[in-house]
Amino acid sequence: MTQATIKRIAVLTSGGDSSGMNPCIRAVVRTACYHHIEVDGIYHGYRGMIEDKFKSLSSRDVGGLSARGGTILGSARCREFHTVEGRQKAIANLKKHKIDALVVIGGDGSFYGAEALSQESDIPVIGLPGTIDNDIAGTDYTIGYDTAVNVAMDAIDKIRDTANSHERIFFVEVMGRNAGYIALESGLAAGAEQILVPEGPTDVKMVADELLEGRRLGKMSSIVVVAEGDDQGGAFDIAEKISHYANLPTRVTVLGHLQRGGSPTANDRLLATRLGYASVMALMDGQRGVMLGIVNNKVLSSSLTEREKAPKVCLEEFEEIRKAMQI
Ligand code: F6P
Repeated sequence: MTQATIKRIAVLTSGGDSSGMNPCIRAVVRTACYHHIEVDGIYHGYRGMIEDKFKSLSSRDVGGLSARGGTILGSARCREFHTVEGRQKAIANLKKHKIDALVVIGGDGSFYGAEALSQESDIPVIGLPGTIDNDIAGTDYTIGYDTAVNVAMDAIDKIRDTANSHERIFFVEVMGRNAGYIALESGLAAGAEQILVPEGPTDVKMVADELLEGRRLGKMSSIVVVAEGDDQGGAFDIAEKISHYANLPTRVTVLGHLQRGGSPTANDRLLATRLGYASVMALMDGQRGVMLGIVNNKVLSSSLTEREKAPKVCLEEFEEIRKAMQI
């Protein structure tokens, strides 16, 4: 399909929301309007596509979104869309609204939906990576990750203050069911003593021994950042297990959905804006069935159907840095 035949596109946000989705919607809508393409927003992701929740969006409707967290379109995880019947209803609604192409902003799960849609209809689909987890191949960063890391780092810095005052060990749980990026980078940035991620096994006794050694060396506090998907459990589980090996004054903080909110950082706003713009340009250029990402500061497209597995965090590199930082 070429520029001449794309008259109306739709945009949706899907899966766990992330800060930066709003500036991304803004960029899609404004770029499309600039090229005289009409835009419908679909509310609550694929669920809204099935339930016919479409609304026309103008340039004005997306004013002021650069700095706003969340997503004005709402988001959802939709079981019905996993079924052929559900997708058929959704496709019928896209046809009813005369949608020529679709932009899906979401994570890996949302891309399975985008891929199915792309294969089962003649509507071109472009995926944009929006998730705090940064667990998508084909882009250096996902929209929302930088904000989440900054929120976590900021929280850990604050926890450090009280940990020092009371000479305590804190276990801080961050999000990441399958990916340890947030834990690793917020922990490194905040100088955490230990970082536990799902990508490798956690040796609880070793963690306890190192915490005891830190105390022996006169450390006033220690911070253990725990990704929620660690093989030994969340922060509460790990603190409990540690207590079998070491009698330490511990406290637990679970950051949870704090990490998904707040005004996007400059990095996330720029990533969102570049990718939102690029998605409309790619559709006008006839691309379909691809995800756009930024790799080495260049917009790159990769196939939605042959998505590579997301790279795992590099634990070896972290270990070397940790040793050098003497933490
Ligand atoms: O996929 C993003 C994510 O924030 C994960 O890090 C987290 O495990 C999950 O979503 C939480 O999902 P929910 O908001 O449905 O509890």
